[in-house]
Amino acid sequence: MTISQSYAEVISMQHTGAGSWMKYLMYKSPATYRHCVRVALLAEIVVPYLPIDEKEHAAFIRGCFLHDVGKTKVPNDILHKKERLNDWEWSVLRKHPVYGEEILRNQSFYDENILQLVRFHHERYDGAGYPEGRKGEQIPLFARACSVIDALDSMLSMRPYKKPLTASEAYRELERHRNTQFDAVIVDLVLELPEHEIGIYLNGI
Ligand SMILES: [Fe+2]
Repeated sequence: MTISQSYAEVISMQHTGAGSWMKYLMYKSPATYRHCVRVALLAEIVVPYLPIDEKEHAAFIRGCFLHDVGKTKVPNDILHKKERLNDWEWSVLRKHPVYGEEILRNQSFYDENILQLVRFHHERYDGAGYPEGRKGEQIPLFARACSVIDALDSMLSMRPYKKPLTASEAYRELERHRNTQFDAVIVDLVLELPEHEIGIYLNGI
């Protein structure tokens, strides 16, 4: 496969209001910005296998790129802290999905699927996530799918307080959290991606 125009459009969206926020994120927290770019690339690879209408594919990729835009409103000393966060710092960090939705609500062209992806990408399938503790299919499909690829990229990349996992360790973690943190159908579909397609992502990190 080749990287399609929709992915290229998504990461060059500086001309839009949301693009300006992402550009700000690129300067404020380059690591977070690069994570958003990689999650958009994973979205591009995964989306043909998701039960998402083809005309919505670009919106899913765009939503994945924007999923952490709310981190622009989280102070860097929390975002980049190397030690464990205390309860107050966690409570601030956990606001980023709601901050992100607020930022995008002001961009009138954004559709509801993207807004919901941003708001709900930290919900868990078992209801133990945030910000609302939604469960199962109460969590919109775009958000359930983003949650799996967001976690995959987070496990495979350098984080302030943890070493990256290998691809097979990260796959085992996804498998272990089927039906607890993640929608099992989406986990299975990610684990079964053809090697030459997921390789485009794995070879680039
Ligand atoms: Fe996030």
